[in-house]
Amino acid sequence: MTTFSPSPPPPRLGLAVIPFLVFMLFSTLSQTCEGRTGDFPVPDPPEERHNEVAIINGLGSNQVLNVHCKSKNDDLGLRVLSTNSNFSFTFHRNFWGTTLFFCSFQWGSQFHWYDVYTPNGPDCRTPNPCWYSVIPNGTICLLNHPTENDSTCLPWNQS
Ligand SMILES: *[C@@H]1O[C@H](CO)[C@@H](O)[C@H](O)[C@H]1NC(C)=O
Ligand SMILES: *[C@@H]1O[C@H](CO)[C@@H](O)[C@H](O)[C@H]1NC(C)=O
Ligand SMILES: *[C@@H]1O[C@H](CO)[C@@H](O)[C@H](O)[C@H]1NC(C)=O
Repeated sequence: MTTFSPSPPPPRLGLAVIPFLVFMLFSTLSQTCEGRTGDFPVPDPPEERHNEVAIINGLGSNQVLNVHCKSKNDDLGLRVLSTNSNFSFTFHRNFWGTTLFFCSFQWGSQFHWYDVYTPNGPDCRTPNPCWYSVIPNGTICLLNHPTENDSTCLPWNQS
């Protein structure tokens, strides 16, 4: 004879709730610690705004800019940017908040590296992505707004 359970067995709680509680704790911390820069690195909960980094070839003089961005886990491939063109990428910080993206920038005989996203660097969460432009004097600048010429120019990585 076949018997039918009237309802599924009750979920077993106990140890299974611990990862959930840890996640809730981190979510609470990340809301509490939100800040523009220099905040304690915390993970982005999955539902939170994502990060976006964009790079513009502002070199002028029809100079092509080759940009190759990577993190420990991602290789975004070589991007060839013609004058005034741009590309952007989006990502979530990893669980530990240690996500770092670095790019190489090559044009003519110039070759430089720059860490475009670091845990304690500028906040690049949408709707305020980080826009960088490489300008005619060969400097990389973080634009305060993508359409305004108001920026912070930064030294390339050493080595
Ligand atoms: C801002 O404008 C100046 C003068 O036109 C120019 O030399 C510079 O490259 C511009 N900076 C950026 C980040 O576009
Ligand atoms: C390049 O131009 C930027 C913006 O005008 C300026 O802050 C920076 O010092 C210049 N760098 C060099 C090497 O001339
Ligand atoms: C970036 O490129 C897109 C087209 O790919 C263009 O519509 C947009 O205006 C560009 N933004 C800037 C700030 O150059």
